[in-house]
Amino acid sequence: NFSPRHVVLQVLSDMSENSHQCVIIGIAGASASGKSLIASTVYKELKEKVGDHQIGVITEDCYYNNQSHLTMDERVKTNYDHPNALDHNLLCDHLQRLIEGKAVEVPQYSYSEHTRLKETTPMTPKKVIILEGILLLTDPRLRELMHASVFMDTPLDICLLRRLQRDVAERGRTMESVLVQYQKTVRPMFMQFIEPSKQYADIIVPRGGKNRIAIDVLKAHIAKLLKS
Ligand code: C5P
Ligand code: MG
Repeated sequence: NFSPRHVVLQVLSDMSENSHQCVIIGIAGASASGKSLIASTVYKELKEKVGDHQIGVITEDCYYNNQSHLTMDERVKTNYDHPNALDHNLLCDHLQRLIEGKAVEVPQYSYSEHTRLKETTPMTPKKVIILEGILLLTDPRLRELMHASVFMDTPLDICLLRRLQRDVAERGRTMESVLVQYQKTVRPMFMQFIEPSKQYADIIVPRGGKNRIAIDVLKAHIAKLLKS
């Protein structure tokens, strides 16, 4: 049937199908609250179902501002827990491109150099993109792009313990520097920006990234979005 009404209905139904060709799930919460862990668990477990190249994880940390023009002394002074430290314009642009079915080059970031590396990681369009990062839910443009959002509500003392261990073992820090940074910026910025962004989450996950029921709920919801 080629009546104008049917053509319009067909276009509208194509559009609504397109809108779910790329499901974007956002996971926010304090530093070391288990965001990366829950993201990689859902990624691994869904990969088997949706297909190897159909699901990907994007870490907000890859989109910290490039600081290669600054000296090391200057880089250390940056407040890495403030929204201004991040290039959300580039992140939004990349998500938009992926939604349009185009590939992007995700920046690589060095926590010990406090800047972007020259290398990038190519990413092809996906059916499912899991975004994870501390400040994702503070940005209305990113919230708009998400089909569902999660806030990891892990107690701050647990986060601090984990951050201490991790930053010393994996991010080239001293215990002293982790504690100074925690008091100067990490905790205050959590109170000012991250905690208040919890109101935008659809799901609030207590205890951390190993919360089995939260993982299963997320997987089931993503599967449902993919079917609709
Ligand atoms: O993985 P996680 O969410 O903990 O990463 C975010 C944290 O990384 C922020 O709390 C920020 O303080 C820290 N960061 C840092 N140095 C950088 C970039 C980020 O300590 N150069
Ligand atoms: Mg992380």
